[in-house]
Amino acid sequence: MISNGYPMRTEVSKLRKRLEAEGLEHDSTETEHSRRFLNLEPATAEVIAVLLRIAGVRNLLEIGTSNGYSTIWLASTIGPRGGRVTSIDRDAGKQAMARENLAAVDLLRYVDLVLGDATEIAARLPGPFDCTFFDADRVMRPNSWIYCYPNCHYPHCFWPIMLCPTRIRSLATSLG
Ligand SMILES: C[S@@+](CC[C@H](N)C(=O)[O-])C[C@H]1O[C@@H](n2cnc3c(N)ncnc32)[C@H](O)[C@@H]1O
Repeated sequence: MISNGYPMRTEVSKLRKRLEAEGLEHDSTETEHSRRFLNLEPATAEVIAVLLRIAGVRNLLEIGTSNGYSTIWLASTIGPRGGRVTSIDRDAGKQAMARENLAAVDLLRYVDLVLGDATEIAARLPGPFDCTFFDADRVMRPNSWIYCYPNCHYPHCFWPIMLCPTRIRSLATSLG
């Protein structure tokens, strides 16, 4: 699984594809919104990975781990370049899945998984972060956005990039 100290791309790619298929299947039958995985769409994840590479992001805060699909993209993009991902989710079950998925492709070593409500936790993290990837509760709890604005209410984050994906499929579902 390991080549020259880095997780093998084919293993990571295989896992992503499996999670993409499982996520779609799971979310299409799960009626409770909070239990859906709501993973990034692959094209969005690819764009984010390119942006992270261009910006040379090293210390990234993710809000909304879910089962780790996006975290796998983030960690495989910046981890081997000396970067680190801190990822928060308040759902212990999803965090356990994320831990297992990341460990399966040896990416857990680039990631700190934090359990709890990001609106309480984010401001207490040591940081500094040069990028926040916000992917939690845009529709249900818009107040939590404020914690992601650097140099405003979230002092440990440098000016950076704040990435907020729009997921056409899940937004449409959320809004009915
Ligand atoms: C859209 S999903 C994240 C999907 C994930 N980024 C991916 O692409 O695989 C949103 C996640 O945010 C978590 N969440 C929502 N509000 C939160 C909050 N205030 N604090 C921590 N986690 C939160 C939910 O439990 C859910 O797992």
